[in-house]
Parts: sequence; C-alpha cells; structure tokens
Amino acid sequence: MVNQGCDLGLIGLGVMGRNFALNVADHGFSVAGYDLDADKTKKLGEEKSAGHDVRSSSNLKQFVGLLRSPRAVMLLVPAGDPVDSVIKELMPLLDKGDLIIDSGNSRFVDTDRRGKSLEEKGLLFVGMGMSGGESGARHGPSLMPGGPKDGYERVRSMLEAASAHVDGDPCVTHLGAGSAGHYVKMVHNGIEYGVMQLIAETYDLMKRSMGVRAEELHKIFDQWNKSELNGYLIEITAAIFAKQDEKTGKPLVEMILDQARQKGTGKWVSWDAMDLQVPTPTIDTAVMMRNLSDYKPEREKASKILRGSSNEFKGDKKQLIDQLKNSLYASMIITYAQGLALLGKASEVYQYGLNLEAVARIWRGGCIIRAALLEDIRSAYRNQGDLANLLLDSHFADEVMKRQDDLRNVVRSGVHCGLPVPALMASLAYFDAYRSARLPANLVQAQRDFFGSHTYERVDTDGVFHTQWDES
Ligand code: 6PG
Repeated sequence: MVNQGCDLGLIGLGVMGRNFALNVADHGFSVAGYDLDADKTKKLGEEKSAGHDVRSSSNLKQFVGLLRSPRAVMLLVPAGDPVDSVIKELMPLLDKGDLIIDSGNSRFVDTDRRGKSLEEKGLLFVGMGMSGGESGARHGPSLMPGGPKDGYERVRSMLEAASAHVDGDPCVTHLGAGSAGHYVKMVHNGIEYGVMQLIAETYDLMKRSMGVRAEELHKIFDQWNKSELNGYLIEITAAIFAKQDEKTGKPLVEMILDQARQKGTGKWVSWDAMDLQVPTPTIDTAVMMRNLSDYKPEREKASKILRGSSNEFKGDKKQLIDQLKNSLYASMIITYAQGLALLGKASEVYQYGLNLEAVARIWRGGCIIRAALLEDIRSAYRNQGDLANLLLDSHFADEVMKRQDDLRNVVRSGVHCGLPVPALMASLAYFDAYRSARLPANLVQAQRDFFGSHTYERVDTDGVFHTQWDES
C-alpha cells in the first residue's frame, strides 16, 4: 500500500516556518503545517493552489495524522518554553521511532535535556540551527543539525535539497552528537554579533571623524563587497546606506534609534566561552555594546557632563578609509578565529566530534555570516583538521600581520578623537595577547599568592610554590 502521508510536518508557521515549508515543497517533498494561530494555518493550506504539495490543519491531532510514518516533525517556534510545551502536547500523538527536529535558536543545554528525555521515550531528537532569515528559509538557508545521525539521515535528502548550495555543495551536514547543531548555530550568532559591531564602529569612525555621508558610505561598502571583504553583512550594510526614509527623505539609518536589541544568542556564547575558558573578546564586546546602547537616556545625560577628547581627525581621508577596510578584514578574521576556537574546545568538552572544515563549508552559503573568507577558512581546516587557532594558519597569519599597522592606526584614530571602537580594540588586543609568549599573568599569580596563598608555578622548576610575601 502506498503511504500517502506527508514527508514533513512543520509546527510554527511564522515567517521562518511558512517560508521553509514552501521551500521544502518546492523541492518535491510534501509538507503539512500547524500553528496555534488558525489564520497562519489557513494561509499555508491555501498554498496548494500555487502547485505546492502543502497541507495544513489547525488541530494538532489531525496534523499528526497527515504525516507518514515514521513521522518527521520540525518545530520552528520561539526558543525556550514554547519548545517544551509543543513537545509535551505532541508526545501522546507520536509513536516510538518518530523524529522531532527543533530548528529554532534553542539554547544547547535545553537541546541536550530534550534529546535525553525524548530518547528515553524512544523518539529521535535533532537540534538544528537554521540561518538566513526569511529569504534564506524560502530560498536556501544554512542548516546546522546535530543529534542522532540516524535521525538526520532520515531527512537528509530533504534538508540537502532545501538548503543553500555553494558550488553544488549543500550548506548542511550532520555536525555531531547531542546539541552540536545548536552549539554551532549559537557560535554562528556570536560571530554575527562581532562582525556587526566591527562594521558599526567602522561606520561610526567614518561618519563622526570625517563626516562621511550615507551616499558615500553606500559606495564604500559596495566597493568593499567586491573585495576580500565580500560577504552578506557587508552587502546589506551597503544596501542600508542607500535606503531613504519615506517620511523625512533622509537616509533611513539616521532615523533609527541607537538602541540595539538582542534575543540572547550572543550572550550565550560569552557565557559558555567563560565557562570553557576560551577567550572571545570581540564577541563579548559586541554583546557589551548592545547592552551599553540600551542606556540611551543615561548616555544622553552623560554626554552633557563627561567631556571627551576635542581632537579632530586631521589626516588623509582616503588613507583612513583604506586603513578601515584593512582593519575590518583583519578584525573579522580575528572574530571568526575566536568563534572557531570556542567550537574546537566545546567539541572536546561536550564530545560533539565537530569537523571545523565542515562547519566552514556549510557557513559559506545561506547564513548571515557567509563571506568570501569562509572558503579560505575551509581550506585552513582542510589542511590541518586540528588547527588550534585560525591565526596559526599561514595564510591567515599573513593576512592579519600585513594589516596590523592599519588596525593599530585605526584604533589610534578612534582613541585620538574620543570615538569608541571597542570591538576593533578587542580584536587587536586579542591578536597582541595571543602572540605574546609571556603575559603579565606572573604578577597576577604573585598577587593571588600574596593575599590568598593561592600558590604559583615557576618558570624554571616543576612544582607548586608559596611565598610569605610580607615577611620582613
Ligand atoms: C540567522 C540569525 C537569526 C536571528 C538572530 C537575531 O542566523 O538567521 O542569526 O537567528 O536574526 O538570532 O538575533 P538577535 O535578536 O539576538 O540580534
């Protein structure tokens, strides 16, 4: 008997869910949709007329009945409690061997917890990051699945078809055990935060130190996007500067309130990086700057009290723009290096079995941090799978070293004019600290031993030592 049920059930028909359902259907797979909001369910059901094999039901039991066995149900609902509630409601309707895929931005510890509990009940649970926003979901996102390999294999052909492709390669692969997929997505977002902040500082410096206007900024970013800086975030930045506000006729970006919001994924990166003792200062700084931006009324008050530098930029405008380009590229490399180093450590600690070449490969298309440099990152990890840090790869070491003077000059210009460039500074400081064979941590150890007898190790002998520092 031919099984007439749908290949995939999708719960959560918001922007991402609806678009992903249509994407999957475009590739010849049948999809059933469900949402608590009956209007959304109805709207998806109407897509049948557009030639898609899409069904829908606003009754969860009926929705589950539309799926072929063993069932594959994908959740695209807000991270946190909604994921647990949907799973709880679904459980009595599913059978052993069915598969649940959580494609939201869930926190990796939640994914581990859910995976364990569902496994005990005989279900398969795949935690999968999805990146690319609305257009990615519709036309090809980057997909980051983790969890049981057999669960992934069951939907592999569908995910490969629906994902973005670069040179014929799908931007999806099974990343590893447990919460590997959501962890990789979390770090993707951390890098996203870092690069966005670096671009924002670059814009700020051009605008506030040299008065570069939106029209010119559009041209500069557009040019940069045709260079080694090529990438989605640079591309959209160029487009943003070209957009006029209908109401005022001014560049829209200048009419947007300077308070950056966040849903939490960047903060989660910093939390876990601290737990695993992996330095990710550019990402941490980006989170910190979103937090600081939120203090708008207080900043307005402070701007009237706290005088900064009155220095103006007197140098050559074209030269500073070229330096900014090089600084941005070097800092972007440093940001990816921090994120990938965190993935390396997390893979060891959480036993994900990540292959960083594969991570770079699936980030080349569809996702928010897709950029030309990911092709080189992929080559770096292909040449050396256990590379401890991207900065140790000879290509990237050269790329950063030859731009470091420009990065130093840019940071100097920011400091000179009293303009905040903390992510650029953090990137440079990371580079300088990482390449320091000796850091002043010896003094920190001495202080710890002085006030708390915390002991220290010596450079010339093995063992643990303590000194009575205040003995006369
Ligand atoms: C993506 C984005 C996506 C979302 C961010 C926004 O990869 O498609 O990262 O997941 O836009 O989570 O995050 P914030 O609201 O924290 O900026």
